[in-house]
Amino acid sequence: MVLFAQPALVPWPTANELKEGTFPLKQVSVIEGEGAQGWGRMLRSDLVANDALARNQDEILHSVRFQRDTAQGEEGYAITVEKDKVTIDAATRQGALNATQTLRQLAAKDSTGTWYWPMVHIQDAPAFAWRGTMLDVCRHFYSVDFLKRYLDVLASLKLNIFHWHLTDDQSWRVEVKKYPRLTSVGAWRTEADGSRYGGFYTQDQIKEVVAYAAARGITVVPEIEFPGHCSAAIAAYPWLGCRQDTIPVPITWGVFNDVYCVGRDSTWTFFRDVLDELVPLFPAPWFHIGGDEVPKVRWQACPDCQARMRKEDLKDEHALQAWTVKRLQDYLATKGKRLIGWDEVLEGGLDSTAIVEVWRGDEQGRKARANGNAMIRTIYFDASPANLPLDKVIAFDPLLDGDARGILGAECPVWSEGIDARSIGWYVFPRMQVYAERMWSGKVGEDIRKRTAPQIARLEQQGWIIATADKDLFRSEVSFDPGPRNWLVTAQCGRKDMDATWRMDQRSGSFTDSLRVEAPGTLLLTPRWKGEAVRDPIAITIADNLALGAKETIEPTPSPKYGHDPEHGLTDGLLGTNSYSDGLWYGWWGPDLTITIDMDSVRTLHGISIRCLQQVGAWIVLPKSVSFETSRDGKAWTTLTTATHQVPIEEAGPLVHDFIAPARTPIKARYVRAVLHNSGKLPAWHLGADGNSWVFADEVVVR
Ligand code: ACM
Ligand code: ZN
Repeated sequence: MVLFAQPALVPWPTANELKEGTFPLKQVSVIEGEGAQGWGRMLRSDLVANDALARNQDEILHSVRFQRDTAQGEEGYAITVEKDKVTIDAATRQGALNATQTLRQLAAKDSTGTWYWPMVHIQDAPAFAWRGTMLDVCRHFYSVDFLKRYLDVLASLKLNIFHWHLTDDQSWRVEVKKYPRLTSVGAWRTEADGSRYGGFYTQDQIKEVVAYAAARGITVVPEIEFPGHCSAAIAAYPWLGCRQDTIPVPITWGVFNDVYCVGRDSTWTFFRDVLDELVPLFPAPWFHIGGDEVPKVRWQACPDCQARMRKEDLKDEHALQAWTVKRLQDYLATKGKRLIGWDEVLEGGLDSTAIVEVWRGDEQGRKARANGNAMIRTIYFDASPANLPLDKVIAFDPLLDGDARGILGAECPVWSEGIDARSIGWYVFPRMQVYAERMWSGKVGEDIRKRTAPQIARLEQQGWIIATADKDLFRSEVSFDPGPRNWLVTAQCGRKDMDATWRMDQRSGSFTDSLRVEAPGTLLLTPRWKGEAVRDPIAITIADNLALGAKETIEPTPSPKYGHDPEHGLTDGLLGTNSYSDGLWYGWWGPDLTITIDMDSVRTLHGISIRCLQQVGAWIVLPKSVSFETSRDGKAWTTLTTATHQVPIEEAGPLVHDFIAPARTPIKARYVRAVLHNSGKLPAWHLGADGNSWVFADEVVVR
């Protein structure tokens, strides 16, 4: 006698009555009934692939039968497994597909190696209609083959919306025949090391993915970003931007000031042409226009945008944004499509028939509700496990203030700045299983971790790298060791079966937890799983600094939130990266500051420099100027120079600027001093208008 455990279904069905006895799968030979062809074939091939079903079936014994039952609703279904027959009741093809996914998960092998379905009666229907996912294919590119594998997993979890984020600053990923440069130029970027990165989908490939998803019950919702997040389009066609100047496809992340010029009619012709070509590729009744993070600084300075505002009687640039959204909405309506936008589309007033995707928090959701808009809630899956442990995903609730009014469902966006096809499994599994259960069942069962385990094991076998605990995929830290005057790299791999390789100049090797670096240069670290890289190399740059390990005095002391080394942070050789929170940058909010370096003995200097960061969206602005002084005794000081810069505050960054004081003739000095003058209050267009800006510095390099 075989004992039958509760099957490990995810998501857990609404009602599930397990009976004693089984239906042996080798007896399935006929999958029949009205409309059964599509899903029946899929179920059969899946069972064959799993060896649950013999390849050629001579013995026609029993059958899986589909019955149309209108009482099951739009997506619901019932499954009845009896000793000698299996019945699926559903009102729609979608319901039958959902039943199929449950049957796939129900198939189990007993201790004698025989596949069976347990005798059950399942009655099931979803809690939310919009069980969405979103993938950013712009920051990193994902192949069509990858997307199919991804869609397979989403379908198995009864997720039914794939929101495809197809355009952004760092790329335009969809072919538009009338504007070939969108992909010949806009789909590619030249990385810092000179390599080219990119890719795009032809219209045929888009159709292929849409059809593949549809066959699995998933609707593809395209997103084309208007009127911001469009640097790649402007790089392809500079006349789309207010300034009409040539810009590169950016290689850094963030929010960019160059947005579409909505004042000129030529831009609107472009918008309509793009929608004319792309809308027909997607049968979904919705179209996502982005609408998020639109800086207004170009519109403020653009005669065409200002003329548009006067002509349309728009009181400010927020009203111009609202006018743009409304025009897009009206145009999409002529094509039978309903507009979706990120919650910034509420800015300046929004038509109540638009759908708002809420991402900035509950306050925006309340605004959408008060305005009468339907909404999609979000939980961002690109967050590190430290910021989004699995318990937080379990606790995610799409309701707003405990109220379901206006809530279609949710999405779990994956932004791909730090993620690509190699590492995505780490971020989305097992989060996706937990999320799918919440969206389908309305709650998450206490045994969810146990039930996801077999699915996770199968995904790992298929090559997905998955977080087995709330750990980062890979973390590395580097610190200066003042004793031996060298550097220690410590690393934490997210799994025991991972390691990392290192490369510096001509030398290389592998390690799992720590590494000593003896000399300046650029070190490249690549974490691996099963011998394969799981992400691009991490670069650590160590400067050749005459002041290495020198004593530093900083007035006032920097914010404790940033730099990690209170003694040698500005003289440790380690150069801050493009990320202000990398532990290497030091930050001050507001004041001018003085950094004094004591090298312990008089040296011969050929120049001094200090690196500063600008990332305007994070309130970080280059200092106005830096004055350099030197001294032999720390009492009498000689001014070397005051270095200024030409970088406008409109340059969003992140960018690093070197303030340099060259010595025309070699200088003898023991002490070096840099005085950094804060640039002052943030300008009127900034979110933090009239507030202080930050100065970020690292490091003081003496040659
Ligand atoms: C977004 O995260 N900018 C929608
Ligand atoms: Zn303009």
